[in-house]
Amino acid sequence: SANTTPELITVTTEGRVGIVTLNRPKQLNALNDQLMTELGTALKAFDADDAIGCMVITGSEKAFAAGADIGAMATYSFTDVYKGDYITRNWETIRSVRKPVIAAVSGFALGGGCELAMMCDFIIAADNAKFGQPEIKLGIIPGAGGTQRLPRAVGKAKAMDLVLTGRMMDATEAERAGLVSRVVPLEKLMEETLGAALMICEYSLISVMAAKESVNRAFESGLADGVMFERRLFHALFATEDQKEGMDAFVNKRKAAFKHR
Ligand code: HXC
Repeated sequence: SANTTPELITVTTEGRVGIVTLNRPKQLNALNDQLMTELGTALKAFDADDAIGCMVITGSEKAFAAGADIGAMATYSFTDVYKGDYITRNWETIRSVRKPVIAAVSGFALGGGCELAMMCDFIIAADNAKFGQPEIKLGIIPGAGGTQRLPRAVGKAKAMDLVLTGRMMDATEAERAGLVSRVVPLEKLMEETLGAALMICEYSLISVMAAKESVNRAFESGLADGVMFERRLFHALFATEDQKEGMDAFVNKRKAAFKHR
């Protein structure tokens, strides 16, 4: 529950960055109900914490997450999963988080693991990362956005290929296809990710949250509506102290010290 120490994740901070490390190593971070509840609780707490400006979700070297917990799912009936909204019910918390969330992926990101990474704002991958939606091999289909976010990220051809064959794609292919923003050597994964996260934390949180909201709007609307949404937020930011600070700092050749971080 909300006030107990998490068991299947570890929660740490680095400066203003909140880090959640999935920690179920023997099961390759298979995502069960308890883990997803703990993850959601940790993210919501960071989102509400003024000391935090950005979040990172990561796993182990071998696995970001090998998917939803197949052992737990194996005996579920339709009645169980539909009535209780099983498996998926606590997966949507991450979508309500307003500060940026970066996925730092090494090893397997399969099924629900790939879907979890895609729910993050962007993915930085280690060179050993492997992405896939292997649900078809289990007689099911992706259930946490895989058939929706993957085609938006990589286009229909590759999404159909991955979802229908269940094959994995490596980090190079994932970067070429646009699923991940950067690929780095495994030993540099956290350094690179924290570098990006700490950089984001230096900016005005108001503009950071507006930027995230506006990019996400691109996937929910037509171009004219999206551009209008962006324009409204763009104009609104001229009402903030941080816009004055950011532009004054540039004009006077000094580093901006944003107030709202
Ligand atoms: C439960 C899992 C698991 C999973 C691995 N394990 N993935 N347990 N759920 N998704 C367990 C294995 O059973 C094993 O336990 C241990 O982790 C190590 O895994 P191995 O298979 O021995 O490792 P390896 O040979 O290196 O193979 C790694 C792997 C393979 C290729 C990732 O484990 C694999 O194919 N896993 C399943 C991937 C998958 O199908 N994911 C999609 C799930 S469906 P023991 O006890 O034997 O040591 C899904 C639906 C999403 O995600 C719905 C969202 C709501």
